[in-house]
Amino acid sequence: MLSSRRSLLAGGAAMLAGTAAGGRAWAAEAEQPPGLNALAAPKGLFFGSALDDKQLTGDPAFLQRLGAECGMLVSEYSFKWETLQPEQGQFVFTRADALMDFAAANRMRVRGHTLIWHEGNPPWLEAALTPEGALAMMYGYIATVCGHFRGRLAHWDVVNEPLSPEDGQPFGLRATPWLRALGPGYIDLAFRAAAKADPASLRLINEFGLDYAIDWQETRRTALLKLLEALLARGVPVQGVGLQAHLDAAEKRLDQRVLSRFVADIAAMGLKIVVTELDVRDDGLPADIGVRDRAVADHARAWLDAVLPNPAVLGLLTWGLSDRRSWLNDRFPRKDHLPQRPLPLDTELRPTALFYAIAGALDAVPGR
Ligand code: G3I
Repeated sequence: MLSSRRSLLAGGAAMLAGTAAGGRAWAAEAEQPPGLNALAAPKGLFFGSALDDKQLTGDPAFLQRLGAECGMLVSEYSFKWETLQPEQGQFVFTRADALMDFAAANRMRVRGHTLIWHEGNPPWLEAALTPEGALAMMYGYIATVCGHFRGRLAHWDVVNEPLSPEDGQPFGLRATPWLRALGPGYIDLAFRAAAKADPASLRLINEFGLDYAIDWQETRRTALLKLLEALLARGVPVQGVGLQAHLDAAEKRLDQRVLSRFVADIAAMGLKIVVTELDVRDDGLPADIGVRDRAVADHARAWLDAVLPNPAVLGLLTWGLSDRRSWLNDRFPRKDHLPQRPLPLDTELRPTALFYAIAGALDAVPGR
């Protein structure tokens, strides 16, 4: 198996894709490449994708490719508070359990996203987050949800997007209802509750805006490192960092040295790293698909080559597998109204240049 895959990788009509990042290049002429998770696994990594649970029905061709490419899944929505507890006191695991069943049937792991966040919450929650009520609310929710999935999730994003240095709060924390109700220690409380309710699941802080050599992102990187140091000094059971990696192909200030050093600083704390939500917005690029795809692929490859080789990195997921669905078209619509092409498969489920960039980056990671 390995020899046939390697020969496919080596001889599969891969044309120099002009990637600036070195390593084996990939191009659309390659025969059907091996699954991305099949490429990742020999390197001690995994590849996976997010999906909207509505994709679990009605699109068998997509599900077939999901199973062929991915070893890990995460739900865009079904493990969030507004889905799991739409009404106070009423837990609804139906949609999350459907994803768990699909993953189990396809021998895929699942990561939980996310327990404590300032978004994705039901309307009734914010009013319940009083200084008196917030702790019981957090403990009850985490105990119930982590208890429901106990032993079955690879990871939990215990706290999502806690940083917003511009809010002027301690440690650059975002001014969320959780911070207002419980103070900066809300993060400690969440991680300790998750560790008690599901000790087997790797516990991460998941964050965006950490990718580029620009001032506001350097401020975020510094704030995250200081937050992690403080948490670890207090014995908080945080085990890893999720780098969301929502990239922008039009952003020129991608400095691989800055990225590699940041990842090394996290690893030096004994923490693991997961690339949790990779996609590459192309709304700042011309309409031409060839130009966009090449720029998206080269940008992602440069980012991945700076991050994946660190032994603390466990794997990567894209925030969607096919351009058939991407949050980016809602959040950052192109001015020409063309759909964006941020993901490894196009709307016809064909590998894009980004697919081959991810494949090449995985293949270039030194064996562990
Ligand atoms: O599917 C339901 C539908 O049943 C319901 O009737 C309808 C009523 O509003 O909502 C539908 O769900 C929407 C869901 O996306 C569909 O996937 C929710 O309204 C909508 O809020 C939800 O948005 C998600 C968003 O997080 C907020 O939770 C996006 O899908 C998801 O891509 C986005 O993902 C975030 C990560 O969690 C954190 N990092 C950034 C990333 C992108 O914003």
